[in-house]
Amino acid sequence: MKIAKGIILAGGTGSRLYPLTIASNKQLLPIYDKPAVYYPLTTLMLAGIKEVLIISTPKDITALESLFGDGTAFGMTFSYKVQAEPRGLPEAFILGEEFIEQKPVAMILGDNFFHGHGLAQVIGEASDNLNGAHIFAYPVDDPSRYGVVTFDKNQKVASLEEKPAKPRSNYAVTGLYFFDGHVSEYAKQLKFSQRGETEITDLLKYYLSLKKLDVSVLGRGYVWFDVGTSKSLLDASNYVEVIQSRQGTIIASPEEVAWRMGFIEKEDFLSHVYSLPKSQYQQYLLRIDSL
Ligand code: DAU
Repeated sequence: MKIAKGIILAGGTGSRLYPLTIASNKQLLPIYDKPAVYYPLTTLMLAGIKEVLIISTPKDITALESLFGDGTAFGMTFSYKVQAEPRGLPEAFILGEEFIEQKPVAMILGDNFFHGHGLAQVIGEASDNLNGAHIFAYPVDDPSRYGVVTFDKNQKVASLEEKPAKPRSNYAVTGLYFFDGHVSEYAKQLKFSQRGETEITDLLKYYLSLKKLDVSVLGRGYVWFDVGTSKSLLDASNYVEVIQSRQGTIIASPEEVAWRMGFIEKEDFLSHVYSLPKSQYQQYLLRIDSL
C-alpha cells in the first residue's frame, strides 16, 4: 500500500547559514529560482503523497502558510504545526501524531534536494514495500557530516552512526525517511543525545533492532544536497540553473508535478497557471510541450 501522508520538517535555526537566516527561514531561501522547500515538497509528491504536514518554527510558520496555503491549487491538503524549539527530527512524529493517525508516513527535511532519472520509481517502490522503516543512502565525500550507514553482504543495513568522527562507509543517510504507523509511539521513547536533541539515527536503530529497516542506495545517476551551508545552497542553485537552461525544463515545480501525477485536472492546472504573476515561471508552465 502506498504511503499517503508526508511531513516536511522545515524548522531549525539555520545557524550555519548566518547571517542569511537572521530574518529568513532556511527553507525559504532560493535554490536558483524557487524557494528551497519546493524541492522536498515535489519529492514527496513524486512518491504519490497528497496529504502533507508542514512543521516549522513559531517565527516562520506564517511565511510557509502564505507560500503554500491549504494545498488546493495542487490537489493536495496541507496542514501546519509549530515546533517551539529544535528538539530533534523525531519530534516531528510526536507533533504530528494526530496527523499520522498510526498510518505509514514519509518525512523529508525541508533543506534536502533530490533529483535524478527514475527517482519517482525508486521511492514509489520503497513506499509500496514498506515493512517498518526505509531510508535512502547516498555516497558522499564527507560522510562525517551526516548519519552514516554500513551494509552487510546482502546489502542490508549493518550499522548506523550519527556524524561519526571516523565513518565506517561513505554512505550518508539522506533526509527522506519512510516509517510505519508505530513511529509516533517509538519516537516518544527516545532519549535526548549529548547535543540536547533526540536523534533520527536512534529511531532508525530501534527499527534495525526489530529487523525492520530497509535501505535503497541512490547511486551515480542521482543528485542529493542538503542546503545547510552557503556553498551547498550555491551548488544546488548552479545545478538547477544548468539543467533547466540546457533542457528547457523546470525542476521541482509543484504545479507541473501535480498535473503530471494526476493530482489536478488540466483545466485546474491551466486556470491556476493563468492566475500566476507574469514571470518566467509562468511562461514555462504555459509551454509544457505535452499539454
Ligand atoms: O540531511 C541529512 C541529515 O539530516 C542526516 O544524514 C542526519 O542523520 C540527520 O541527523 C540530519 O542531520 P543534520 O545535521 O543535517 O540535521 P539538522 O539539525 O541540520 O536538521 C535538518 C533539518 O531539519 C533542517 O532543515 C532543520 C530542520 N530541523 C532540525 C531539528 C533538529 C527542524 O525543523 N527541527 C529540529 O528540531
